[in-house]
Amino acid sequence: MKRTKVKDCLSQTEPKENILVKGWIRTKRDSKEFSFIEINDGSSLKNLQVIADINLSNYEDIKKLVTGSALAVKGLLTPSPGKGQQWELVAHHVDIIGLAPSNYPLQKKRHTDEFLRTIAHLRPRTNKYGAMFRIRSELAWQIHSFFHQQGFQYIHTPIITGSDCEGAGELFQITTLDIANGNKLQADFSDDFFGKEAFLSVSGQLAAEMFALSLGEVYTFGPTFRAENSNTRRHAAEFWMVEPEMAFYDLNETMTLAENFIRTITNEIMKNCYDDIQLFARFVDKQLNDTLNTLIQKNFERIPYEEAVQLLKASGKQFEYEISSGNDLQAEHERYLTEEYFKKPVIVYNYPKTIKPFYMRLNDDHTTVAAMDILVPHIGEIIGGSQREERYDILLKRMKETGIQTDNYSWYLDSRSFGSVPHSGFGLGFERFLMLLTGVQNIRDVIPFPRTPKQLLF
Ligand code: 4AD
Ligand code: MG
Repeated sequence: MKRTKVKDCLSQTEPKENILVKGWIRTKRDSKEFSFIEINDGSSLKNLQVIADINLSNYEDIKKLVTGSALAVKGLLTPSPGKGQQWELVAHHVDIIGLAPSNYPLQKKRHTDEFLRTIAHLRPRTNKYGAMFRIRSELAWQIHSFFHQQGFQYIHTPIITGSDCEGAGELFQITTLDIANGNKLQADFSDDFFGKEAFLSVSGQLAAEMFALSLGEVYTFGPTFRAENSNTRRHAAEFWMVEPEMAFYDLNETMTLAENFIRTITNEIMKNCYDDIQLFARFVDKQLNDTLNTLIQKNFERIPYEEAVQLLKASGKQFEYEISSGNDLQAEHERYLTEEYFKKPVIVYNYPKTIKPFYMRLNDDHTTVAAMDILVPHIGEIIGGSQREERYDILLKRMKETGIQTDNYSWYLDSRSFGSVPHSGFGLGFERFLMLLTGVQNIRDVIPFPRTPKQLLF
């Protein structure tokens, strides 16, 4: 017999016999002759109320069940006379599938996020994390759908790589050399699996560029890895990135695409995940609906880096890190611009070349590059992108200036000799987008099993 999801039970329009529901007990109240069991199968925020009564052959066993146990219930789905729910399932048959003990860690009281991180294998069974991971799933679909509708091709760029796209040296090295048994790594990697040094990719961009220069408009969407030793609430060692790359786009067209991308997807998530988003708006961030509506309705501010710096200097704010021209903006600076000054998302562009990677296109002033970062409230940078340097000589010079080993990148340089064209792209931090959409403050709480410095549980 086919099971019906709780979500579909709750959207019925008329009573139905022979409904089979399978799920886990969230709460239960017993009287002498009845048990009211709230059951949830992960399909929706709301539970389904099951009525089990003394006529069931295993009623004594049902009465002993506690939160967390798994059941299969067959019965009549009917409008509920009770308060608080529209539908209930009057059980004709209850199969006890899996028992949970009375010390099941998820009790009815509200648990802290810190505690729930220690039981990340169980937290998706709570209202909040069930909602989070349904939104995460929908967000991934919406991203694919957006690019698919715009005619972009989806490219699977490699995870194992020999190059450091961002040039920041934040790579996890991978090896099959037996390091544990004293076989210390030596400068010569010819005995290693690939016969050379190998790493987990920090970005799929360089590979995506090759495909943009063949297929026109492409995107990658996959896991990326960074050994940044910064234990902040917005950095993870393993995170997902969405990286569109477009031939014949300049920086302005890329900003417009990125803005449109965030707006369209936010709108879809607000519609398709209404109940789940409203949970976050009630319990996590009271301003969430306002923030998301601003994102959908207002044009993003666009401002050159140098003007942003002047604005920050003139703000009279005491920042922990002093602001000075030529340095990267810190999270606190980014948040001031978007939360306090403009009160909407801000695109900062034309950064000094000294704080940006080699591949960004040098502007005519020879000191800035055609870079853009999108900053949003509560998070700061959510997107980093640029127009790419398409001129062979300038690219080569920039690589040398920034200490890139050019012999590893001959293939990349080739693309600038063989029909090179202007092109651009950006990278969106998938988890940061989820933080924005839910108001959640810590990246550890938007990832099923987060990986951060000194933390590798599960
Ligand atoms: O600004 P980033 O470093 O840009 C790139 O990697 C480019 N190759 C993208 C491109 O142009 N194709 O990273 C892009 C975004 C950041 O804006 C941020 O949202 C996210 O990735 N990000 C992280 N998210 C979580 N944890 C980390 N450690 C992150 N580092 C970057
Ligand atoms: Mg960046």
